[in-house]
Amino acid sequence: MTGDHQSLDVNRTLRGRRIVLGVTGGIAAYKTPLLVRLLRKAQVDVQVVMTRDAARFVTPLTLGTVSERDVLTDIFPDGAGAGGGSWTRHIELGLWADLLVVAPATAQSIARLAHGFCENMLTAVALAARCPLLVCPAMDHDMYVHPATQANLEILRTRGGIVMPPDHGELASGLIGEGRLPEPEAILERIASAIDESARRKGDLGGRRVLVTAGPTRELIDPVRYITNHSSGKMGYAIAQAAHDRGANVTLVSGPTNIDPPAGVAVVKVQSAAEMFDSVKQEQDADVIVMAAAVADYRPATPSDKKIKKTDGPASLALERTDDILAYLGERRRSGQVLVGFALETSDELAYARQKLEKKNVDMIVVNNPTNEGAQFGGDTNRVAILDRTGSEDELPVMPKARVAHEILDRVVHRLG
Ligand code: CTP
Repeated sequence: MTGDHQSLDVNRTLRGRRIVLGVTGGIAAYKTPLLVRLLRKAQVDVQVVMTRDAARFVTPLTLGTVSERDVLTDIFPDGAGAGGGSWTRHIELGLWADLLVVAPATAQSIARLAHGFCENMLTAVALAARCPLLVCPAMDHDMYVHPATQANLEILRTRGGIVMPPDHGELASGLIGEGRLPEPEAILERIASAIDESARRKGDLGGRRVLVTAGPTRELIDPVRYITNHSSGKMGYAIAQAAHDRGANVTLVSGPTNIDPPAGVAVVKVQSAAEMFDSVKQEQDADVIVMAAAVADYRPATPSDKKIKKTDGPASLALERTDDILAYLGERRRSGQVLVGFALETSDELAYARQKLEKKNVDMIVVNNPTNEGAQFGGDTNRVAILDRTGSEDELPVMPKARVAHEILDRVVHRLG
């Protein structure tokens, strides 16, 4: 499915596309006129935006000539290299572009992009952009592997940005290591695959009603105590955000989390499994339902309305089963509806997930094991396997939750036909 860049027709994908190419101040900037030439040959409209330091390595005249457009540097039109026009150019460009590419991306620019600084034209365009971001880091090896740079790249990935890893080889410092900007031909291909992926996903859930559940539930023992679990809600929120980005009308039923609600998504906050069940029932005829919530399987049978006082002896708590919301949905599903469940296992993940597919009558089970590297509770990445009723079982590598969300939705869209 996704990630299959082999069969991509680069020229066909790129023809007529619009790219903002951000060039930042590293020695590898000397490769960018070649990249721009390749893009222009593929009939891409390229707007180059440079930082002031980039102009020390490659001139605006060179990039302006090969791109056939004035190069932009400053936000305000009266600055040197501003290229004239209105001072809202950064907003217009952010809406104009199909893809924002930053190549080479220095450690400094990566930090600025990660933290939302916008003191120059490039970082301002990046904040205003609604299109995907592709970052091509290029710097000395030690700067690249430094935890600060890696953490900044992780922030960008977590927000759905694409990071093209640098090549390994001889660096400007004379050292050998990771940090070389890939060759323009390789960047061109990565640009094409990024555009292809975003074009395929754009609006493919348009007009669909998608219900997502997320987070843990809280089952009261008494007014001050409850039973819950470690779910952070990040996976469900990422799915809600991704579905919204793909044009769906999204309702997110969320247990207690401390995540900001995704813009444009209707959020219903609940506490207990019973409340979640009630809210899900209101939306049970949605086109797609993704039960990412970690719903409690048991709740205290007789919660006390007063705080329970301790006694000298041991205590016990009688528990009763909660309703299985997913099983309820599986029994009543209407034709054409796509139902996705989650499973969390610490052993024999695939075997348990296969059983769950059948038992709960769902189309897909997304299973993860929180003891695996990259799949821990509360993290920004996940490592899942997606099992489908058709028998397909895809074990995905560790990836940001934003990407896992799109992988799940790619399969949902496929099933919706
Ligand atoms: N689920 C639900 N209602 C519940 C419990 C779970 O809808 N009361 C949903 C979850 O949202 C998830 C899936 O069912 O999509 C998880 O299934 P479950 O059987 O609870 O799995 P685990 O708790 O992971 O596994 P088990 O109890 O079998 O160990």
